[in-house]
Amino acid sequence: MTTPTLDDVQDYWNRHPAGAAEVEHLRADRIAYFDERDRQTSLLYPHLNADYEFSRTKDRRTLELGCGMGYNAQCLAQAGANLVAMDLAENAVRLTKERFALRGLKADYLVADAENLPFRSEAFDEVFSSGVIHHSPDTKAAAQQIERILKPGGNISVMLYHKNSIWYWWDIVFKLGLMMAVLNYSPAFVRNVLLKRMPHWKDLVMPAGQRLTLTDVVRSGTDFGGLQNPISRVYTHQSSRELFSGLRDFRFISNFNATGALEDPKSLKSRLIGPIVNRLNRRFGFFLIIKAKK
Ligand SMILES: C[S@@+](CC[C@H](N)C(=O)[O-])C[C@H]1O[C@@H](n2cnc3c(N)ncnc32)[C@H](O)[C@@H]1O
Repeated sequence: MTTPTLDDVQDYWNRHPAGAAEVEHLRADRIAYFDERDRQTSLLYPHLNADYEFSRTKDRRTLELGCGMGYNAQCLAQAGANLVAMDLAENAVRLTKERFALRGLKADYLVADAENLPFRSEAFDEVFSSGVIHHSPDTKAAAQQIERILKPGGNISVMLYHKNSIWYWWDIVFKLGLMMAVLNYSPAFVRNVLLKRMPHWKDLVMPAGQRLTLTDVVRSGTDFGGLQNPISRVYTHQSSRELFSGLRDFRFISNFNATGALEDPKSLKSRLIGPIVNRLNRRFGFFLIIKAKK
């Protein structure tokens, strides 16, 4: 693939607002649509408020960078933050605005690029960002912009995908990698049989003449649409310290979707594997929340 551009990233996220697919069936009833999204989020991420420390933003000038459908922005506004909610995708900002109007919450809204933030230096006390800058063409440039707009003594809570996680090594590299290798390197008739049985795997087929790489497996294994997702990167504690090299006092928390949270709580998976995986996710979860100070 040619190197993805910011336009590719913007176009992809305009078509796939994170979390929208799961509530698409409620699209006609806007209150039910956002309520159900909130219900699912609170089941999937039971520690979200504590992990991100939303409460520390009361009366503080706060940026949510990459607000998506606006769930975290809503938590920040409810905690009393003086909030700017921004995203590269117009659709994300539109959904956040709509959510805030329905809930009677206030923020400033902005469509902008993390790599070129339209704010003066040292404008914010707090910057929140959850699953955003690892999708941007130049993640380091976005990290430097975050450092620039933060006041001395200001804080970040930034979630990046975690390389040292169960989901990365087992579900993406091993399981999905193997499956994509079989799909892409099998003779055409085998691939056709597979695609007939699993038509949604079409998004995992590389364009003719292009070799499958680990980068392709990683972007297919995160978010929606398989290979349609232009960019996803993964970070360790060490590489995220290097990314935010101008910050100090690093703390790390990891988490991930609570296993079985949206399934039948009596299912075998929920009862047997759920508690173990959920506990492991507190150290080896796919969501690495980086907290640091300027
Ligand atoms: C996986 S979604 C996460 C959305 C939200 N933070 C959440 O937790 O649901 C990634 C978001 O990052 C945004 N994004 C990607 N690159 C960006 C950039 N360079 N500047 C601003 N937002 C960006 C996308 O538009 C998308 O809304």
